[in-house]
Order: sequence, then C-alpha cells, then structure tokens
Amino acid sequence: MPKFKTLDDIGDVRGKVALVRVDLNLPMKDGRATDVTRVEASAPTILELADKGAKVLLLAHFGRPKGQRNSTMSTSMVQGDVERVLDREIMFIPEVAGPVVEQAIGILRDGDIGLLDNVRFWPGEEANDPEFARAIAGHGDFYVNDAFSAAHRAHASTEGLAHLLPAYAGRAMEAELTALDKALGNPEMPAAAVVGGAKVSSKLAVLEHLVGKVQHLIIGGGMANTFLAARGVDVGKSLCEHDLTGTANKILDTASHAGCTVHLPYDVVVAKEFAAHPASLRTCNVHEVAAEEMILDVGPLAVEALGDVLKTCRTLVWNGPMGAFETEPFDAATVALARTAAALTQDGSLVSVAGGGDTVAALNHAGVAHDFTYISTAGGAFLEWMEGKVLPGVAALEA
Ligand code: 3PG
Repeated sequence: MPKFKTLDDIGDVRGKVALVRVDLNLPMKDGRATDVTRVEASAPTILELADKGAKVLLLAHFGRPKGQRNSTMSTSMVQGDVERVLDREIMFIPEVAGPVVEQAIGILRDGDIGLLDNVRFWPGEEANDPEFARAIAGHGDFYVNDAFSAAHRAHASTEGLAHLLPAYAGRAMEAELTALDKALGNPEMPAAAVVGGAKVSSKLAVLEHLVGKVQHLIIGGGMANTFLAARGVDVGKSLCEHDLTGTANKILDTASHAGCTVHLPYDVVVAKEFAAHPASLRTCNVHEVAAEEMILDVGPLAVEALGDVLKTCRTLVWNGPMGAFETEPFDAATVALARTAAALTQDGSLVSVAGGGDTVAALNHAGVAHDFTYISTAGGAFLEWMEGKVLPGVAALEA
C-alpha cells in the first residue's frame, strides 16, 4: 500500500488554517441536493479538524463553469446542504484567494468552517497554474485532500496545492485508498470483477486492465451483447457495438492467456419493446434470441451460476449494472447478484468494493449498499482507478 500522511500526522492544528479539498459536486433538484453522500463522507474530516480548533476552509468545484463566474454554479448553492449534514453554520466566502479570503480568515474563530466559492470559476484551476495554486496556498497552513472522486483531475486544488503545503489525506480519502488497495492493489485471491453498463467502448481500458488482475470477469449489461456477438451469437435488436466485436475477441484472448475466466450470460431476459413488464417478455437461451427481440437482462440460470462463482471468491470489485435495472423487471439480475455478494460479505467470506454512479444507484435499489465492504463515492475517478491509472490527486499526496 503506497504511503501518504493522514490527519494523525498533522499534530496540533489549533488556530491554524486548513485548506480542505472536498467534493461538493452534488446532484441537484429544485435548489437542493438529491444525494449528500459525498458531504457525509467528508464530514468526519471537516468536523475532526474543526473540533481540534483549526479554521477550516472548504475548497471545491461545482459543475463545469469553464473558468468563468456563473451564479448557478456557485458553491453557495450547496451551503445549506453542507450545513445540514455537518449540523453547523458555515461562512460562505465568494472567492478562493485574495483580500476577501484574508478578511474572512480574520473573522473566523478557531473551530469555524468557511466555504470558498467554486474553484473552477478561475481558469488557473483546470490549467493547474502554479501562480493560482500559490495564491490559494498563501492562505493555508496545511492542505487536506478528502476528494478521491476528483483525484483523477490534475488541477490546482486537487494536485498543485499538495506540492505547496504540508499535504494530508482526509479520513474519506484514507478509507477509499485503503479499500481500493484491498480490492485490486493487493486483493485476496481468487478475485472477481463485475463489469456492466451499456457500452464496451466506455469501459475498454477497464476490461483490458481487469483481465490481467482477476480470475473471474463477469460481464453484464449492454456490453455483454457485444461480447456475445463477438462469439457468433445473434443478439437480434439488442444494444450492441458490432464494430467492436474484434476488440471484444482480443480481450477474450488476453483473458484466456492470463488465466481469467470471462463469464457471459447463457440465458437472457428479452422483449420486443423496452418498457416495464412488456407483453413480449420472455427468458431464453442466448442462442434463441429472435431477430425482433432485444436482450435486457441476464437470465436467472446465469445469475445462479454467477452467484456460485462469487462463493468461490475472496474479493469482488463491481462497476455497472447487469441489465436495464431502472425498468422492472430488468433489475432482477442486478438485484439478485448484488444480494448474493452482500450476503457473502456479511458472512465474512468476501471483500466487496463497488463504485460508479449507476452502480451505487443499483446497489441502493437492491437495498444492499450498506452490506458491501466499501462503496466508493467516485464516478470517473473510480473508473480510472479500475483502469489501473495513477490518479494525480493521489500521487501528489504520496510524493
Ligand atoms: C465527479 O462528479 O465525478 C467529480 O466531482 C469530478 O467532476 P468532473 O468530472 O466535472 O471533473
């Protein structure tokens, strides 16, 4: 496991200014966040520093304002959500550097929390401009990164600052890196990966990396159709990237050389139209899909067999649903396999780590998110980690 400093290494923080990078990129509806998991994840870090007497300045992006001020993307939009989660009042500061920030620091008492505005209002953020980073760093005594979900960006607030101030991983970052290391860095074998979702093209690098890492690769969702087509199965009207069947075959070859068994569905749930409980719904062998039918979920026999595979494994990493899970009954395979994984985790025989937007929604839908060993709050960063990439925000903490 790579070494990075944590809050345990900081020493006395009383009266010091902590620049804490958090991820407040929250999904919103009617002016309120619809999911505050990311704030909840960082709350222990923020409260620990505040309770030890630091002046905590929260630094975050919100949306993609492309280097310009935009009132709809001000972090003040999420101030209320952050206050509710922390159960503390916080001070909104409409800048990230300069006299306004200096004045705010003068007003904040030890243990108070300030929220800086959207760091992406300034072009220096995404350009990782050292001048911009130095201007922010000038206000802080130390830097804490608690935003794993933004660590795939080499930006001033996620990477640059770590080189300018004493840098520490926050509690959420620490938990995330420890869990991810157990799942893919240093997993107990045998290990399995579930990769689902619509398209092979969006997860090519993930699949290529995983076949060299795990003993069982379970492919579900629309992307399984491309693999089935590569093996000569007629997938009818199913979502399928026919131009990628050559790539799919290469991945299957690499897997077989690496000793990784790729599991594709052998029975499937099909329908002629994509709707909830359609009249044309049926379950069949993959070789019996009719020209006017589409595959919308993995079938029950395959799900049972996949459950048996998981029973032989010690580690599982999961990204992407097995079927069109937002529409019933095409959630069945995702729900059943997720419940098996959760039960094995609770029995102590499996370390299970899942991440990615859709995945977390799917596991919540199955009612088992809390029974997994670890659920990542990251989307893009989780995928890049599954690709085996070094995340700049993490690398900078290890430097
Ligand atoms: C996310 O929401 O996944 C992170 O906050 C990163 O956001 P970005 O894709 O706009 O960099």
